[in-house]
Amino acid sequence: MHALEQKILNEGIVLSDKVLKVDAFLNHQIDPVLMQQIGKEFAARFKDAGITKIITIEASGIAPAVMAGLELGVPVIFARKYQSLTLKDDLYRSKVFSFTKQTESTIAISNKHLNSHDKALVIDDFLANGQAALGLADLIHQANAEVVGIGIVIEKSFQSGRQLLLDKGYRVESLARVQSLENGTVTFCRD
Ligand code: G4P
Repeated sequence: MHALEQKILNEGIVLSDKVLKVDAFLNHQIDPVLMQQIGKEFAARFKDAGITKIITIEASGIAPAVMAGLELGVPVIFARKYQSLTLKDDLYRSKVFSFTKQTESTIAISNKHLNSHDKALVIDDFLANGQAALGLADLIHQANAEVVGIGIVIEKSFQSGRQLLLDKGYRVESLARVQSLENGTVTFCRD
């Protein structure tokens, strides 16, 4: 997606060979116009898939997921990483290990909002090692719902996540595919 790649080139900061900072438009300050374009792009890619729900994870997945939900006309559920005062329903839970942060967290969604008739699209901001996406897919499978696909805003293609998800049979649609962050420079996959 051209506008996203340009934004990454103009405002992204390469923190190391592995980490790209996009706090200017995605992870802290949010660019609503870009998010709207991102929502339209996800909707275009998945418009014929019969999606009934979008599933994401707090915090940074929420903005692109809501925009995609708006375009597709379906509700958006965000998995919680922290205990909620009000979420007292029965929960689907999954453990997610972050290789980037070296932390494990339990993610959860209420069983009220997802059922066996749902066709769910997973959306997240980053794909690195694929653990968050797998955790979200696990929550969807616990509800006996279908994972229609996984939509990613920025994929770090030099890490293992994409292949892991493809090997498990998931459709992966990434709007920007970063091939390398070496020498402080962002390069994108061209295929
Ligand atoms: P994985 O789910 O693909 O295995 O990724 P990983 O555990 O390695 O990443 C965990 C967290 O780190 C996620 O944020 C993810 O978005 C973020 N992350 C991974 N690589 C990068 C990167 O290069 N740049 C930035 N900016 N973030 C990265 P999170 O903990 O869920 O945080 P948030 O959603 O609350 O912002």
